[in-house]
Amino acid sequence: ERSYSVTLLPGDGIGPEVVAVAKDVLSLAGINFQFKEMPIGGSALDAVGVPLPDETLDTAKSSDAVLLGAIGGYKWDKNEKHLKPETGLLQIRAGLGVFANLRPAAVLPQLVDASTLKKEVAEGVDLMVVRELTGGIYFGKPRGFGTNDNNEDIGFNTEVYSVSEIDRIARVAFEVARKRNGKLCSVDKANVLEASMLWRKRVTILASEYPDVELTHMYVDNAAMQLIRDPKQFDTIVTNNIFGDILSDEASMLTGSIGMLPSASIGASGPGLFEPIHGSAPDIAGQDKANPLATVLSVAMLLKYGLGEESAATRIEAAVIETLNRGFRTGDIFSSGTTLVGCKRMGEEVLKCVDLQKPAA
Ligand code: NAD
Ligand code: IPM
Ligand code: MN
Repeated sequence: ERSYSVTLLPGDGIGPEVVAVAKDVLSLAGINFQFKEMPIGGSALDAVGVPLPDETLDTAKSSDAVLLGAIGGYKWDKNEKHLKPETGLLQIRAGLGVFANLRPAAVLPQLVDASTLKKEVAEGVDLMVVRELTGGIYFGKPRGFGTNDNNEDIGFNTEVYSVSEIDRIARVAFEVARKRNGKLCSVDKANVLEASMLWRKRVTILASEYPDVELTHMYVDNAAMQLIRDPKQFDTIVTNNIFGDILSDEASMLTGSIGMLPSASIGASGPGLFEPIHGSAPDIAGQDKANPLATVLSVAMLLKYGLGEESAATRIEAAVIETLNRGFRTGDIFSSGTTLVGCKRMGEEVLKCVDLQKPAA
């Protein structure tokens, strides 16, 4: 029987609530898993004084896949940079070398009413944001605090991309687009930023290797607008770290809620990192209100992209759809005529539906 080790990083806020549900779902996938739970973020700061303990990174590196809930919270917001929960998240992304972050946003017919957009605009949206995850302004040097010529305090960061960093994320995006509708839109700010000018140049050069993919370019401000005006024009979007962060939160609202969007972060080798795109939601943490479906769908991505277990992934996706068909909704996707449930109950309903999808023995 196939068997995999999975590192669980529940993190902070709603992270432990949604990871508990996703772990149960994974356990029902019909595959043998060894789970190891490790601290990250604020809970690691409280326990051992750093946001990413060495043992957490080592365990993650030596496992087959990593599932993360979310990190962060008010309690640690004023911490110095190296003692912020967010620093732990950036460290594990860098430590695992997961430079490509796939963030799909598809509007499910069951949730068209949960979208804040008009039905005819939202219906049928199915796009994928390919976000560069280990470079750009999040990691660029120089960075820090200092003073300017007027002796005024300043904070500064650097947006920087090398040819190899651009090429490897562009190749992932061309491959993703090739398997989807063959349309790739590269989003940048090449009218202003040198890092974007190089980005556009390299993406354009690489396009000649993918003649079956139709490449377009768009400035990020226009892309933000077009995503709301006519999201169906997009299939695959490739963009840098910070634009991808912002545009994927925006794209999540097309689908009804940020509580629905999963992600997969993949590197050249080693385990992938799978996490919902949302944060620790401190405003609803500990109240059993969180939507666990983004994390459940992240488990489906873990099976598909991390372990190559496509049929188990498909079963979990089908179970999520069936749960929605049965009318169960957490508060963030609730609409009249549906049944309002909490995080735990939503998990139980998904489990019933995963069970239903069991292949006949
Ligand atoms: P957030 O995504 O945590 O929350 C934004 C809003 O969406 C909140 O109103 C929240 O209640 C709601 N929401 C998010 N996930 C939900 C879910 N599963 N079900 C229902 N509602 C949900 O973003 P924020 O408030 O800007 O950040 C809160 C903290 O999370 C910060 O410390 C931030 O740094 C951190 N954060 C972490 C990650 C991560 O771990 N990957 C991602 C984003 C933000
Ligand atoms: C995300 C989050 C993180 C990011 C933060 C918490 C560092 O917003 O995963 O989208 O900006 O990448
Ligand atoms: Mn984000």
